[in-house]
Amino acid sequence: MNYKDYIRVIPDFPQPGIRFKDITTLINNGEVYRSAIGAIKEAVADKEIDLIAGPEARGFIIGAPLATALGVGFVPIRKSGKLPGAVVEASYDLEYGKDKLAVHRDAIKPGQRVLIADDLLATGGTIATTINLIKQLGGVPVGAAFLIELGYLDGRDKLDGLDVFSLITY
Ligand code: PRP
Repeated sequence: MNYKDYIRVIPDFPQPGIRFKDITTLINNGEVYRSAIGAIKEAVADKEIDLIAGPEARGFIIGAPLATALGVGFVPIRKSGKLPGAVVEASYDLEYGKDKLAVHRDAIKPGQRVLIADDLLATGGTIATTINLIKQLGGVPVGAAFLIELGYLDGRDKLDGLDVFSLITY
């Protein structure tokens, strides 16, 4: 399947010069969405994963169905102020902007093997911060899986040699 055909590219969103990769057109098609999650599942199947962690909000769209497909739990990595329990937090830079991410302290137990899932790898800031949070809790990041990687932004270089799988590359 050529997944790229289902991604809509929107010029100058949310800022002039950014060509936004819109995944809503891909996930709108049930067959393509299921196939994409299945392909990511196959790519990570050998990793002995205990948990999937996905950053808000679009990381949930990939991470949650991947977790259920693998039969493992899902850990939401949320923007600051959203989680009700005790959290650890870390700041990060975005392709456009700045934010803070948080995870529940009891969401990952020391030694648990965590695969990160998100819709898009751009600068890598979001995933570098997610790795930081997982490690603060004693979890072991075993890889990261994306629907889309913007290869020209070299986000992989920020991920400490973590094993990265992307279904679509620009
Ligand atoms: C987007 C995207 C990734 C991140 C990629 O999320 O879903 O999580 O940016 O950028 P990076 O590699 O440069 O960090 P965003 O923070 O826009 O939030 P959203 O999912 O709530 O739209």
